[in-house]
Amino acid sequence: MTQLHAVSHIHGNTPEAQRATENPAKASDRGAVAPAPLSVALWNVSWDDVLPYRFGSDGAVVRWSTFENVRPFIEQNYARIFEEPAGDTPFTQETSMNRAKARYYAIFADVFEFLYRNETIGILICTPLDWSTYYIRTAALLPEHQGRQWVWRFVSEVLFDYLAPLGVERVEFDVSPANMAMLHLAARNRCNPTGTLLTERWGSQVRFTRFLNPQREAVFLDQFCNGIKYQTRTRRNPR
Ligand SMILES: CC(C)(COP(=O)(O)OP(=O)(O)OC[C@H]1O[C@@H](n2cnc3c(N)ncnc32)[C@H](O)[C@@H]1OP(=O)(O)O)[C@@H](O)C(=O)NCCC(=O)NCCS
Repeated sequence: MTQLHAVSHIHGNTPEAQRATENPAKASDRGAVAPAPLSVALWNVSWDDVLPYRFGSDGAVVRWSTFENVRPFIEQNYARIFEEPAGDTPFTQETSMNRAKARYYAIFADVFEFLYRNETIGILICTPLDWSTYYIRTAALLPEHQGRQWVWRFVSEVLFDYLAPLGVERVEFDVSPANMAMLHLAARNRCNPTGTLLTERWGSQVRFTRFLNPQREAVFLDQFCNGIKYQTRTRRNPR
């Protein structure tokens, strides 16, 4: 892994690690309560290799979680985080939080929970889109904890490095054209806009792709891009 000076995997036998992995159990124990997520079946992922994860000595801890476990966080905070009118958002409408949705997350999703001083401050939920594509379905941090790039650093410094050797060739996510913070993070981190979507649930979205496989990135650049290709310039982290 690269750039791990700022972040570290907490070793499993410390009291801190035990607190961070309490409720729910370790990722490897999850099979007892729910089916193994798709990432495990497809890529033989072992999330215990990288979780729990801490950003510095007084930083957030990222731990394995479940949709049921983070659902109260979504219901209580998503309207505020996404600046939606309370009660009029797909995040909290009863019909969207139905049984099928919970089952979908149980079967397909990797749920990463961000804690600071044992309080949940954010979540990141990802699902495999197909055999070589990982999709960031939702990412959100309480506004008072934004500004340190904890979510994006976890994605780029941990997930990218972990998933690439397992055969994941690209990571994709969708962003509202007005979400300047995410657009900024996407451009800064070599994510290419690869499509636009019109959705009845989330409005218009720009699809971004972050290529983890340099050959796939080269195909994209050669086939679709003229002019300056900034990402081909030498980078500190060339992948
Ligand atoms: C997206 C999110 C999860 C990223 O969290 P994070 O990795 O901790 O990143 P931060 O919030 O610390 O940083 C966001 C970056 O956007 C920048 N930013 C914030 N507001 C901005 C604005 N209005 N215009 C441009 N850039 C902005 C920040 O300055 C920072 O960049 P910098 O480090 O170069 O200064 C978090 O910002 C969040 O929860 N946002 C609200 C929910 C959301 O938009 N989710 C994603 C939906 S696709």
